[in-house]
Formats: sequence, C-alpha cells, structure tokens
Amino acid sequence: MPLKGKKIGVIGGGAMGEALAGGLIRTGLVEPALVYISDVSAERREQLQEKIGVNTSADNCAVVKQADIIIIAVKPHVAPPVWQEIAAVAGPRQVFISIAAGVTISRIESYLSGPIPVVRVMPNTPALVGEGASAVSPGSYAGKESIEAAMAIFNALGRAVQVPESLLDCVTGLSGSGPAYMYLILESLIDGAVRLGLPHNTARELAAQTMLGAAKMILETTDHPAKLKNMVTTPGGTTAAGLFALEEGALRPVLMKAVAEAARRSREMSG
Ligand SMILES: NC(=O)c1ccc[n+]([C@@H]2O[C@H](COP(=O)([O-])OP(=O)(O)OC[C@H]3O[C@@H](n4cnc5c(N)ncnc54)[C@H](OP(=O)(O)O)[C@@H]3O)[C@@H](O)[C@H]2O)c1
Repeated sequence: MPLKGKKIGVIGGGAMGEALAGGLIRTGLVEPALVYISDVSAERREQLQEKIGVNTSADNCAVVKQADIIIIAVKPHVAPPVWQEIAAVAGPRQVFISIAAGVTISRIESYLSGPIPVVRVMPNTPALVGEGASAVSPGSYAGKESIEAAMAIFNALGRAVQVPESLLDCVTGLSGSGPAYMYLILESLIDGAVRLGLPHNTARELAAQTMLGAAKMILETTDHPAKLKNMVTTPGGTTAAGLFALEEGALRPVLMKAVAEAARRSREMSG
C-alpha cells in the first residue's frame, strides 16, 4: 500500500482539491488527520474542516513541510507563483503532483532545485463523483514509488493510467474534455426521445443509464467496441436502422475531429 501512513498535502482546496482529499478519505486510503490542505480563503478552509475533517492552513509552505505527498490543485495561472513560493521547502524525499492543465513538467522542474520527484496528472470532472479518468506522467526524478503513489491516489477517484507527458494533450482531447462530449451526446439522445413523446426525466434516466451500461461493458470485457456493437445489431433490425442514421451523419469523423481539435488547443495553450 504506497499511501499507508503517508501525510498528504493539498495546495488549493477548490473543487478538485476537495474531490481528491474527499475521495482518499472516503475510500479509506488516508485518514483525515493525515491530510493537510492550504487555501487562500478562510471560509473555504472552514468548510473543508467541517465537511471532510482535514487539517487546514493559510500557509502553503507549512503544508509542504508537513506532507510526504503534495498535490498542487490551484488554477493554472496561479501555479507558477505557487511553485516559486514552495520551492525553498520542497525536498527530494517528497512527491509533488501537479494537476494544473497545460503546466508542463519541464516548467515545474525549472522552478525547483535538485532532484525533486514531480508527477503531472490530467484528471477529469467525474473525479468529483469517484468516476474520474486520469492519466499520470512522471517527471525526470519521479521513480517507481512516486508513480505508484500517484496511481493509487487517482485510482481512488476512478481509474488511472500511465502515459508519457508527450501524450497528455491527446488525453486532454479524449478524457479531459470528454465529459462535455458525453453530455452533448446524452442531451441529443434525450431530445430525440422527448420529440417522440417520452417524458424528459424518463428519457434522461434511460439515456444516462445506457451510457453507463455501455461504458461498463467496455471496461469489464476485453472485447473491441465493434464486437459489442455487432452483438446488439440484428440484421434488418432497429439498431441497424439507428446506426445507419449515425453513419450517414458522419458521427465517427466528427468525434475523431473533436479529440484532435481539443488536443490541438491543449498544445497551443501549454506552448
Ligand atoms: N475541475 C476539473 O475537472 C479539472 C480537470 C483537470 C484538471 N484540473 C486542474 O485542477 C486545478 C484546480 O481546478 P479547480 O476546478 O479545483 O479550481 P478551483 O475550484 O478554483 O480551486 C482552486 C483553489 O485554490 C485556491 N487558491 C488560489 N490561489 C491560491 C494560492 N496562492 N494558494 C493556495 N490556494 C489558492 C482558490 O481560492 P480562490 O477561489 O479564492 O482563488 C480555490 O479555492 C486546475 O489547475 C485545473 O487545471 C481541473
């Protein structure tokens, strides 16, 4: 268990900071007494103490000094000054995890001196409900233990995979921006059913459960999506008719383009 007895620091107790700390506590991976969160807002610190029972502080460096694993969960434009602020108290026995979109490992390492282990992670918003999809990329000094710690943290919030940093823009285009694609697809399916007379709430529940069920089938079997699709497509049947409409509307290239466009924008923003 790579997190047993480890003290976890979180810099920035916003949506992701709370989701991360809350997820680790909920899954029993870390005790609340071993979690230290710093945030600029006194109101936010009070909320976090009440909601998840963690230790809070207004002092980022104090949190870094206390913790073994530190997650930097501030907005990307705040990240550079935060790294500069904590650099003096960061040590090579700690692990620093950055989730700020577009802030590269080389940029982070340029703020630090010495062989400090850094892991960059791209999570997504379903981490807020324990179903996140995260990709983990190790920095120059992040060894096996640092990677294992990051994987354990983000597996507690859903699923985590390891990829080289060069693929993080692609990950952003797929799972980072992906929830929005899924919402658009769900909204369209719901609208389609409502148009035919199904009540909105019924359509919403059926559409969302269908997406969840299909996703589970993909994750729980090793089958190619095409095989699963063929299994539910009777020759001359209803699904074949629906699939024809999707092919005619060029759904495949449209979705492939969405991934490419979001990845291009991610590259542009971090360059
Ligand atoms: N949300 C997502 O799904 C998602 C997905 C992938 C990556 N990320 C990354 O996760 C990071 C956090 O996103 P978020 O949505 O959680 O943002 P957020 O809700 O704004 O949380 C950031 C928190 O940090 C606080 N803060 C600001 N400056 C600080 C400082 N100098 N020291 C300590 N705390 C400070 C903020 O306080 P104030 O609000 O008072 O400024 C806020 O409470 C971002 O870098 C984002 O790119 C998020």
